[in-house]
Amino acid sequence: MKTIFITGGAGFIGSHVVRLFVNKYPEYLIVNIDALTYAGNLENLKDVENKPNYRFEKVDITDAGRVNQVFEQYKPDGVIHLAAESHVDRSITDPFAFIRTNVFGTCNLLFAANQLWQNNYEGKRFYHISTDEVYGALEKDGSYFYETTRYQPHSPYSASKASSDHFVRAFHDTYGMPTVISNCSNNYGSHHFPEKLIPLCINNIRHNKPIPVYGKGENVRDWLFVDDHAAAIDLIFHKGKIGDTYNIGGNNEWTNIDLIRLLCKVMDRKLGREEGTSEKLITFVTDRKGHDLRYAICSKKLQDELGWKPSVTFEQGLEKTVDWYMANQQWLDNVTSGNYQQYYEKMYSNR
Ligand code: NAD
Ligand code: DAU
Repeated sequence: MKTIFITGGAGFIGSHVVRLFVNKYPEYLIVNIDALTYAGNLENLKDVENKPNYRFEKVDITDAGRVNQVFEQYKPDGVIHLAAESHVDRSITDPFAFIRTNVFGTCNLLFAANQLWQNNYEGKRFYHISTDEVYGALEKDGSYFYETTRYQPHSPYSASKASSDHFVRAFHDTYGMPTVISNCSNNYGSHHFPEKLIPLCINNIRHNKPIPVYGKGENVRDWLFVDDHAAAIDLIFHKGKIGDTYNIGGNNEWTNIDLIRLLCKVMDRKLGREEGTSEKLITFVTDRKGHDLRYAICSKKLQDELGWKPSVTFEQGLEKTVDWYMANQQWLDNVTSGNYQQYYEKMYSNR
């Protein structure tokens, strides 16, 4: 039996990856390595928690001693590394949390994996999940991010992810460690923490609360359904070329304001409200500092070399997403109670 560590498995994307691997690969032991920060929630994995090939280990990846301990205990053959501080707005108020987890935490994992695997890399793999934000921002000119685009991160979040990408490549180039990296565009889907745009809009519309649109809402993001990202991760983990980078995107660009209007329409229908009701909640607020104008990523390499393509249209994915939140209102209420509520009020009282 192969043992695979999935870090950040209690978070949004990580929980989808854990679910996919636990169900699809009964021959693997999947160990979810997660510190359970505000963004990690074991409720996300209720449906797989009792499967014989699943384990959870509460580990803060910034704690080198604890990281070494679990590597010694399980001797993993592979690592799929998703654990991170992931929210750009939080990185603007507290960059150090991002440096600690995204940079130091990644280095702790690299170091522990290298200690365990050294001189015996056969069948081993360290897969680092990164973001398109490391490439910087594009103009609205039809250009794209490619695997060869130079790194130009702007936010503390993207700078910390860029730094972690560099360390992963450094471990490959220096020690010959079998690494692979992917850089993905904005994900959406179930179990997405409602500080991020799509679940935040759904939650606020549900509660008739203002929908905060940063600036004029003209920034563009390329949205990908989270299960399609998980499928890409599965392909890259098993078939990606060692030392390579793969871009993943939905080829699905939306300005924030158009996306929010679409969500209002879908939510009005789901809630039985007259069309146009929720649009009245749209509230333009002070822009995010250093707000990247546009992301658009070319995933041709992944499509041509590994045969990946998205399985759902945006309309289908959004419908599934909204339906999940409507059916899981308790989940939303649980994760938005307590500390998160205080954070939200503080964040938006400053805007
Ligand atoms: P998330 O914030 O929903 O989840 C992060 C998870 O990491 C949580 O379970 C949290 O508890 C865990 N974690 C945080 N700090 C930790 C630490 N010090 N030790 C152990 N665990 C810790 O994030 P997400 O949106 O699911 O993103 C997952 C990964 O994918 C991140 O690396 C992110 O940079 C990358 N990514 C995200 C997107 C997106 O649109 N969400 C797009 C591209 C890439
Ligand atoms: O591109 C991939 C990245 O996508 C990931 O690496 C990040 O982890 C993920 O959080 C996401 O980053 P963004 O900053 O693009 O996502 P967010 O949901 O925070 O914001 C999406 C857009 O919506 C962005 O232009 C800012 C805007 N926005 C966001 C919020 C939370 C608003 O207008 N209002 C809001 O309240």
